[in-house]
Amino acid sequence: MTIKRIFESNILLFGYGKMGGALLSGWIKSGLQLKNTYVFEPKPSEELLSLAKNGANINPTLPIKAGVCILAVKPQAVDKLLSSFPRNVMFPVLISVVAGTPLSKFKSKFSSEVNIFRVMPNTPALVSAGISAIYGESRMNREDLEKVKLLMSAVGSTVLLDNELAIDAVTAISGSGPAYLFLLMEAMASTGVELGLSYKTSLKLAKHTVFGSGKLSLKSDLSPKNLRENVTSPGGTTEAALSVLLHNDKFRLTMKEAIKSAHKKSIHLRG
Ligand SMILES: NC(=O)c1ccc[n+]([C@@H]2O[C@H](COP(=O)([O-])OP(=O)(O)OC[C@H]3O[C@@H](n4cnc5c(N)ncnc54)[C@H](OP(=O)(O)O)[C@@H]3O)[C@@H](O)[C@H]2O)c1
Repeated sequence: MTIKRIFESNILLFGYGKMGGALLSGWIKSGLQLKNTYVFEPKPSEELLSLAKNGANINPTLPIKAGVCILAVKPQAVDKLLSSFPRNVMFPVLISVVAGTPLSKFKSKFSSEVNIFRVMPNTPALVSAGISAIYGESRMNREDLEKVKLLMSAVGSTVLLDNELAIDAVTAISGSGPAYLFLLMEAMASTGVELGLSYKTSLKLAKHTVFGSGKLSLKSDLSPKNLRENVTSPGGTTEAALSVLLHNDKFRLTMKEAIKSAHKKSIHLRG
């Protein structure tokens, strides 16, 4: 099986919002042809309409046969989507990226021949640097699991989960995680301005520092703690900053509280 074969079997997406858009853009960059792209979206954006002009099938006429169908609507929109799900749409593999919505909800709607996966991606998928956690039941056909892995690998890295409840933790770490780092960039950039830099320069410094540190940590065998210690010389500037962040374990405890709040919300969403 190759990603080319998966793309050629047609990709069907419900919901071209931030996540659906990021995935589709990532797949298009990885070779998905617009003629093999089918999207249902109630209010197509200019961007989606321009894909339609170039051959993508937007709110297409039925019947549709696709290799993989992806549901990327908000959790609150799932019931409505499932109750009005178009007939004459055939696919062997369904991927839901919807937070807080259990597999059981989808299983009751679709035939038992459809293999259903929950995937928790994140928006860096847009630039092929996402991380997706994949969960499928153990009775799943291995070939379909490989298909989902290949598809998600086309927009970044993947991890496999062995229990569905872990999706709530993944949502709190990497699903929502880009927002934590964007906040960090905002704080670094605005402080740079207070210290006399232009906003443009300060933001560029912040963005590249986050990007480069992520890349370094992926390439290095050292733990984040070791990498941090490597840039902290005794009595130096980094140590001065860290003494503030580490005082009373302030930074770690704030992160913990934030991540646990996201986790709680994810559990709450599934009711
Ligand atoms: N954004 C992230 O970083 C992220 C990360 C991981 C997972 N997710 C998951 O991805 C899902 C989508 O999130 P999002 O941020 O992309 O939300 P979003 O930007 O609101 O996108 C959802 C899109 O789905 C459309 N939609 C609603 N009902 C539909 C239907 N019946 N058929 C087809 N399309 C329909 C919406 O249209 P209207 O606006 O007109 O209703 C909207 O354009 C969520 O379940 C979220 O948990 C998101």
